[in-house]
Amino acid sequence: MLNWDALEDETQVEVQAPTKAKAVEPAAEPAPAADVNLQAQVEAELAALDVAAGLEELEMNAGRVQVDDKRMINCRADLNQLVPFKYEWAWQKYLAGCANHWMPQEINMSADIQLWKSENGLTADERTIVKRNLGFFSTADSLVANNLVLAIYRLITNPECRQYLLRQAFEEAIHTHAYQYCIETLAMDEGEIFNMYREVPSVAKKAAWGLTYTQKLGDPTFNTGTTENDRELLRNLIAFYCVLEGIFFYCGFTQILSMGRRNKMTGVAEQFQYILRDESMHVNFGIDVINQIKAENPLLWDDAMQQEATRMIMEGYELEYAYAQDTMPRGVLGMNAEQMGEYLRYISNRRLQQLGLAEAYPGAKNPFPWMAEIMDLKKEKNFFETRVTEYQVGGALTWE
Ligand SMILES: [Fe+2]
Ligand SMILES: [Fe+2]
Repeated sequence: MLNWDALEDETQVEVQAPTKAKAVEPAAEPAPAADVNLQAQVEAELAALDVAAGLEELEMNAGRVQVDDKRMINCRADLNQLVPFKYEWAWQKYLAGCANHWMPQEINMSADIQLWKSENGLTADERTIVKRNLGFFSTADSLVANNLVLAIYRLITNPECRQYLLRQAFEEAIHTHAYQYCIETLAMDEGEIFNMYREVPSVAKKAAWGLTYTQKLGDPTFNTGTTENDRELLRNLIAFYCVLEGIFFYCGFTQILSMGRRNKMTGVAEQFQYILRDESMHVNFGIDVINQIKAENPLLWDDAMQQEATRMIMEGYELEYAYAQDTMPRGVLGMNAEQMGEYLRYISNRRLQQLGLAEAYPGAKNPFPWMAEIMDLKKEKNFFETRVTEYQVGGALTWE
């Protein structure tokens, strides 16, 4: 359990001198070669291998899968048969994610290094914003990745969606890599940045809020198949896709991208721009999954569950607004906490609408219309004038 009182004074954990372990090398003297008996055992094991043994748990005889056999959760058909697709949108998102592939080292950080090192390059408030956001995001992407791999993946019983989840998991690794790359190139205090999620209350509360939902599904014996457990999975999906990735990222993205628009920390801003492009697809994928589960299991989405989903999004808004106030005690970069609150209410309404729920903050407007433009990189060539930002790889092969 986190002790919030202890966190208030932002105590720094003492950073220990790094001890780097080398990869273990095989012994210089090789082990003796396998004897004849071992070869006979290998042959006997393979001859006795029963191809049906791995399929026994499938209730539908592991026959060829038909589209109608496929279900988002609690599916009993063979999950290794990718086609025929039932959810074509999931496959399209997988292809789009691959086309948007990027790596952090491809972005030029030299202007950032110079600006970060120069004493008067950034104001104290601007420096706080860079540090807080690297602190929050460096952990948040890891929480998202862990939740995908340890909680969600085995419970989503559809191969085309799993294919997207695998792509998303790699993108989360790239995002964590991007933050690490920024922290390293700017020679920041790694201990300070990576421990913020435990030491700075406005950062810690967001991380702790998400973690509670992973923990509920983290028990290896947890399974869906009852109404209550199916709802538990829905809560996890709402917490991660609608709140963590859908609300908790938006104050930080807006702050860093606003910095880039002002020609400050353009390399960090460009990293965040690519991350935002990935994240907006993660959010859209997650919402499509949630809505599909609702459509296939209408009983789950009763009044109480709808109210709970709305409450979770409102909690997300409150935590993110507190983060905005903490990171912007004064106006900075042409924005302030009040405006950010309005933006976050607008974003929260959007998440509720996407789930088919009523807005919690009627009338909220978007005070940062430029954010929507940034999310669509194609419209924003050379936005930060660092390089061509319309970066896509892996176009379709053409067969002559
Ligand atoms: Fe991410
Ligand atoms: Fe994500």
